[in-house]
Amino acid sequence: MILLTGGAGYIGSHMSMALAEAGLPFVVFDNFSNSQRGVLQRMAQISGTAPTVVEGDVRDAQTLEQLSQAFPINAVWHLAGSEAVGGSGAGTGPQESQWMSGIGQRQ
Ligand SMILES: NC(=O)c1ccc[n+]([C@@H]2O[C@H](COP(=O)([O-])OP(=O)(O)OC[C@H]3O[C@@H](n4cnc5c(N)ncnc54)[C@H](O)[C@@H]3O)[C@@H](O)[C@H]2O)c1
Repeated sequence: MILLTGGAGYIGSHMSMALAEAGLPFVVFDNFSNSQRGVLQRMAQISGTAPTVVEGDVRDAQTLEQLSQAFPINAVWHLAGSEAVGGSGAGTGPQESQWMSGIGQRQ
């Protein structure tokens, strides 16, 4: 099963559609900071398959641990990030400052 972080976003929603159409199992993991839950309903209407969705933040290690125990994940497509480089790595806000190279690790 593929873990698709940021699966409700611009690229992620297209990847979700492609995976659904290919019949491959995947789980969308997204905190919806830059996307809307409604996009997943529209994806389900178009593809005929409701994606498995878990709401959470990639910086939350405990949630990721629970996710890995709940699903047999053997691949990760990591698309959860801020759109702009400035937001992913050089932001000065309380959340942005915790990013390291856009991967989501805490400092
Ligand atoms: N769109 C492009 O042309 C493009 C080009 C090159 C690289 N990228 C990179 O690819 C990634 C995805 O781009 P996109 O255009 O789909 O962006 P997007 O903002 O549309 O999608 C990102 C998704 O990740 C989610 N997200 C953000 N932070 C999160 C977090 N901490 N935990 C969980 N979910 C989180 C958002 O809610 C959103 O649904 C970004 O890192 C972006 O920098 C995009």
